[in-house]
Amino acid sequence: MNLPSSPIASRRLHVITWGCQMNVYDSARMTDVLRPLGYAPADSAETADMVILNTCHIRDRAAEKVFSELGRLRVIKQARAEAGQDTILAVAGCVAQAEGREILSRAPYVDIVLGPQTYHRLPEMVARAARAGGAVIETDFPAEQKFDFLPDATGPQLPGGVTAFLTVQEGCDKFCSFCVVPYTRGAEASRPAASVLAEARLMVGQGVREITLLGQNVNAYHGDGPDGRTWGLAGLLHALAEIPGLARLRYTTSHPRDMDEALIEAHAALPALMPFLHLPVQSGSDRMLGAMNRGHDAAAYRSLVERLRAARPDLALSSDFIVGHPGETEADFEATLALVRDIGFAQAFSFKYSPRPGTPASGAPNAVPEPVKDERLQRLQALIREQQDAFNAASVGMTMPVLFTGHGRKPGQIGGRSPYLQAVHAAGSETLIGTEVMVTIEAMLTNSLTGTLLRERAFA
Ligand code: 5AD
Ligand code: SF4
Repeated sequence: MNLPSSPIASRRLHVITWGCQMNVYDSARMTDVLRPLGYAPADSAETADMVILNTCHIRDRAAEKVFSELGRLRVIKQARAEAGQDTILAVAGCVAQAEGREILSRAPYVDIVLGPQTYHRLPEMVARAARAGGAVIETDFPAEQKFDFLPDATGPQLPGGVTAFLTVQEGCDKFCSFCVVPYTRGAEASRPAASVLAEARLMVGQGVREITLLGQNVNAYHGDGPDGRTWGLAGLLHALAEIPGLARLRYTTSHPRDMDEALIEAHAALPALMPFLHLPVQSGSDRMLGAMNRGHDAAAYRSLVERLRAARPDLALSSDFIVGHPGETEADFEATLALVRDIGFAQAFSFKYSPRPGTPASGAPNAVPEPVKDERLQRLQALIREQQDAFNAASVGMTMPVLFTGHGRKPGQIGGRSPYLQAVHAAGSETLIGTEVMVTIEAMLTNSLTGTLLRERAFA
C-alpha cells in the first residue's frame, strides 16, 4: 500500500470513538499526533484517507461490535480503492489491546492495531504500514511513557469547546474481580504535574472553562510535582484552581479506597471543584464487595460519603453498580438496594455482570442466571431513576451557576451544564457561551432543565 496519494495538507482523518471519556481524550490526542503528517478531520469514513476505530472492552460483546463495524469500514475501503483512493484502517483502544492478533486474522484488511499505551507511535506505524504494505501491530506496554512523546495538546476536543477532558493518570492496579482494565490499560501511572498544568493552561487559553481530569483511578494520582515531591490529586487540584479563567474542575473515576483526607478537604476548600462526585461502589453487600476484591465494605463507603458531605454539604453523588456478579444472592442484591436508598444518588449507572475473558470472576462456577440479572437490573434502575427524578425535581426553583457551552434546544436558547452536570437550557444571547451565569431553574423536562438567566458573571 502507498501512503494516501492526496497532497499532504489535504489528508483526511476520521476517528470513531466508543466507550469512556478517556477514549474521547485519546481520540483527540491521536488526532494531534497525526496533524504534523497533514491529517485534518473528516466528517465521515467515506471521505477519510485514514480511519481509526477507538474501541472499548469493558462490557458485553465488545469484540463482535468491533468486527461488525470493521465489516462496514471494509466496504468503504473497497469502494474507495476502486476509485483509486487508499485508506489506512486502524483499530485502537482496549479491544485492540486485548484482541490484537484476532483482529488481524479475522479482518486482514486492517492496517494498524494499536493499544492505548502506544498511540504516540502512530506516525511511525502509519509510515511502516505504507512501506511494508502489511499490517502493523503495537500492543506492548512500552517502557517509555507516551505522554513524554506526545506533542502539545492542541486544546479542546471540539473546536471552540468550553469543556474538555484531560488525562492525568492511567491504568489500574486494583484488579477488581470483574474488570478488564488492569489488563488493557496496564499498570497505574501518573503524568508529572507540570505537564498537566501546562496542558490545562493551553486549554484555558483556547477558551476552555471547565476541565475534567481523567484517570481509570484518578484519585490514586501520584505525579512528580514541580517542587520535587510527589503530588496527590488534591495538590494537583489546588494548583489547577489557581489558573485564571478556569471556572470549573471535575475528576473521574475515583475508587473509594483512594479518597484521602487531603482530597476530601479539597472539596471544602476549592469552590471551582464542582459539588458532584462519581464514586463507584458496585455493590452494597459486604460479601460481594469482598468477592469483587474492592478492598472496602459498605460501612466504609457510607462513612466516606458522610465525610464528603460534611466537607461539602451541597455535594451530589453518582455511582456505578454491577448486578449478578458470580455468587450474588437475593440478600446481597437487597443490600445494594438498601445502600442506594440510604445514600441517595443524583444519578447512577448500573450494569449486568458480563464475564470478561482473563478476569478472575469470569471462570467462577456460581454464575447468576441471565433472567435473574435482568430482573435485578430492572429493580435497581427503577430505584435509581426515582432518585434521579427526585434530584432533578428538587432543582426546580433553585438558582445555580450554569456554564453555557453551546446553542440550546430551541432558537434563541443557549444550553449548558449545572454544577451537577444537568443539561440546562435558557433563553439568552450566544455571547454568553463560554461563561458561567446564574440561572433560576423553572422546569424539568425528560432529560434536561429549563431556566431563566439571572445575571452575568464576567471572566478575567
Ligand atoms: N461487567 C459489568 N460491568 C462492568 N463494569 C466493569 N467491568 C464490568 C463487567 N465485567 C462496570 C463497573 C465499572 C464501570 C466503568 O463498568 O461498574 O465501574
Ligand atoms: Fe476496574 Fe476500576 Fe476496579 Fe480498576 S478499580 S479494576 S478500573 S473497576
